[in-house]
Amino acid sequence: TPVTPTATPPMGWNSWNHFGCDINESLIKGIADSMVANGLDRLGYKYVNIDDCWMASNRDSSGHLQADPTRFPSGIKAVADYVHGKGLKLGIYESAGTATCAGRPGSLDHETTDAASFADWGVDYLKYDNCNNQGRPAAQRYKTMGDALKATGRPIVYSLCNWGEDSPWLFGPGTGGSLWRTTGDISDSWSSMTSNLDQQAGLEPFSHPGAWNDPDMLEVGNGGMTDTEYRAHFSLWALLNAPLILGNDLRSMSAATKAIITNPDVVAVDQDWGGSQGRRMRDLGGGLQVWAKPMSDGSVTTVLLNRSASAATVATSAAELGLGGSSSYGLRDLWSGTTSTTSGTISSSVPSHGAVMYRVTRAGTSQAAQAAGTYQVSDL
Ligand code: GLA
Repeated sequence: TPVTPTATPPMGWNSWNHFGCDINESLIKGIADSMVANGLDRLGYKYVNIDDCWMASNRDSSGHLQADPTRFPSGIKAVADYVHGKGLKLGIYESAGTATCAGRPGSLDHETTDAASFADWGVDYLKYDNCNNQGRPAAQRYKTMGDALKATGRPIVYSLCNWGEDSPWLFGPGTGGSLWRTTGDISDSWSSMTSNLDQQAGLEPFSHPGAWNDPDMLEVGNGGMTDTEYRAHFSLWALLNAPLILGNDLRSMSAATKAIITNPDVVAVDQDWGGSQGRRMRDLGGGLQVWAKPMSDGSVTTVLLNRSASAATVATSAAELGLGGSSSYGLRDLWSGTTSTTSGTISSSVPSHGAVMYRVTRAGTSQAAQAAGTYQVSDL
């Protein structure tokens, strides 16, 4: 069982993608302020996660981890108290090895001590990395920390970060993990984002409430992709029921970035459990793809994706999405907000490196009838 059950994919922010090691306590507090000021908390974003480089280079004389005295002079507990005072939760980072990836002290063979420190400080989420693991079996290393977290009695979401090695979707649930990285690190480029996307194929059966495949944190707003590309990135992560861990500087984001990460209809797709994470239903060739995810009310969300270098029409049908049996369907374009009806064809012009996202509903049926409809997950 998970250390802390997560009925929906965790949502929040993490320091790594934008700031790397260049972090400190005033940054973390400023991010927490921005989350609330921008209304992100009301949409479900609640974890403020400190990644690598928060630690001093050595343990203290009694063997406890200590915060870097320059970057976090007030200590992690003070930061946790501040974040909690905003109604948010604090996450932290460690590695299941002798050192973190950036060379700070690791938790391997210190799990009980370190889990107790995290709980004492008021930490709510642990991202547990895989660097310097000494070749010891991942299932064992991750379970030791999961057990130590459980033993603290504090609810702590346990995020496994072993880059998809050793099939964490198989061993992860047994360690107490609620989510696990499925790939190496994302970077802020279209090719990296789509490479991580493609590596999700086949992992769909391992995702369900309390157990989430993690295609890595979001890059939306970090500057290496266009807004059109970021909209596709966010659409696809939502379709995958991926953890939505923002990676940009929330204190200075553009209006376009804010509009992407706060689209309530798209966030709702991510947080909805309709029996399966989304998947690629059809590859039309030439970089054109149809992705789909069943929704709990019986509707289906589809992403029409154009990976090619020029605008193109991408088409599917209600029947292909598993929604046969009606003469009329409602389409809601989740990015433009416009609605329309169709007798079955679902088609749109999609910009290069862009996505069009529709929620498709059988017309003339109540929500209850939708939920009880003939749609089967196996149709995907
Ligand atoms: C690994 C992880 C990243 C990040 C860095 C920090 O590469 O996969 O997400 O946490 O370590 O050093």
